[in-house]
Amino acid sequence: MPQTTENEMWLQAVAVREFAHCPYSGFAVGACLESDTGELFTGCNVENATLGLTICAERVALVKAVSHGAKRFRAVCVVTDTTAPTFPCGACRQLLWEFGGDMRVMLGNKAGIMAEYHLQELFPHAFDGSSFTPLE
Ligand code: THU
Repeated sequence: MPQTTENEMWLQAVAVREFAHCPYSGFAVGACLESDTGELFTGCNVENATLGLTICAERVALVKAVSHGAKRFRAVCVVTDTTAPTFPCGACRQLLWEFGGDMRVMLGNKAGIMAEYHLQELFPHAFDGSSFTPLE
């Protein structure tokens, strides 16, 4: 991926993070996904008073992207305001895997990208469409 795309994803994740609705945790998250055609989709976390109905930034970006016709993704960038990288939660890893497979995962804060992984490293032995293959 060109350095410019990486930087643009980080910039968009930083920007969308400002829209986070997080009155309960005070923990704002921004995410930017890159589709296989190079389109970028952003999301922030949207909390709810029930707490359990909270939606993470990664999932907001993902459902926005899928509902715009994007189906495969190359990379995701997640930005918080912490010194250590924030890893996507288990539910987000499962949902990202469905559409992204082994996508690149960039983790950063407002100062820049701090760490990079591939989704398979964070989510090995996934349950996915191939898990339905029956015994011959
Ligand atoms: N959160 C995300 O949006 N993405 C993550 O990767 C980790 C957690 C949100 C959910 C909740 O609004 C807040 O961070 C605290 O858990």
